[in-house]
Amino acid sequence: MDLKASGLKIGFIGVGNMGSALVRGIIEGKVVNSEQVLVSDADTAHSLQMASEYGVKIAKTNEELVSASDVVILAVKPQVIPRVLDGLQYIVTEGQTFISVAAGVTIKKLEAFIPDKAAVVRVLPNLPCLIGSGVSVISPGSRAGAEDIEITEELLKGIGIVLHVREKDMDAVTALSGSGPAYVFLILEALTEAGVRVGLSREISEKLAVHTLVGAGKMVLETGRSPEELRWMVSSPGGTTIAALHLLEKAGLRAALMDAVVAACRRAEELGLVEE
Ligand SMILES: NC(=O)c1ccc[n+]([C@@H]2O[C@H](COP(=O)([O-])OP(=O)(O)OC[C@H]3O[C@@H](n4cnc5c(N)ncnc54)[C@H](OP(=O)(O)O)[C@@H]3O)[C@@H](O)[C@H]2O)c1
Repeated sequence: MDLKASGLKIGFIGVGNMGSALVRGIIEGKVVNSEQVLVSDADTAHSLQMASEYGVKIAKTNEELVSASDVVILAVKPQVIPRVLDGLQYIVTEGQTFISVAAGVTIKKLEAFIPDKAAVVRVLPNLPCLIGSGVSVISPGSRAGAEDIEITEELLKGIGIVLHVREKDMDAVTALSGSGPAYVFLILEALTEAGVRVGLSREISEKLAVHTLVGAGKMVLETGRSPEELRWMVSSPGGTTIAALHLLEKAGLRAALMDAVVAACRRAEELGLVEE
């Protein structure tokens, strides 16, 4: 769908970290024109910044924003969602699409607040979306049709790649791509320290570690080969890499990462139950 040609009005409730990243992504990526975008934020400095940087319009209230939008993006903290939606029910109109990026807020909960005439799509972006290199997953609600999903996809493409999952897999996604950047930051810290340990400067070591990680990831994406296959390519018989890999396997790196993702998934489930 060509969102520019559609002329659809896109309203953002909350333009903090994630909301502003989405605004930037869709304007800089030319997904929509700035005149199509409306923002509302409890912190007026955030709305004013969006208006001055991207020429978007500011709504004085969330009510005004919902009245003027075809698509409403909910980008406030999860605990604020009930309060925001409570005051909006009476102005929701037929055919509107509500897209929530709030972590842990279920479709059931969103649909309970948003009248039947509007559709709900739940989305989980991750931290690198803030720089346009993220991965987001989409789960449509029971009232969302093909068009609601297409609109959501188009908007999210501005901040990274988009995948579809069933809502029941959201906790697993939270544990992998949601918390995943933190695992990678830890690995990068460790590799940097390791470089220093074998005599490199901190600056050189950090650059080598980051670019090795980015380059290895890109190789998987661009060659279409599996990580295992690529690992064999760098493990020459009796060489340095296989010596290091032997030690990493013995230290349980693979099992530790698997256990970490399982622990994060269980914790996401527990937090969800507390919310219910
Ligand atoms: N940041 C991430 O990497 C990330 C990743 C995945 C999902 N998410 C989700 O994205 C959502 C937003 O997170 P964030 O990091 O962008 O939070 P944030 O930086 O705090 O932005 C939220 C903005 O909404 C404003 N706000 C609060 N109450 C409001 C209201 N009633 N009406 C309008 N605006 C209101 C806040 O203003 P005040 O500061 O004045 O309260 C703030 O400017 C969360 O639900 C989070 O789960 C974020």
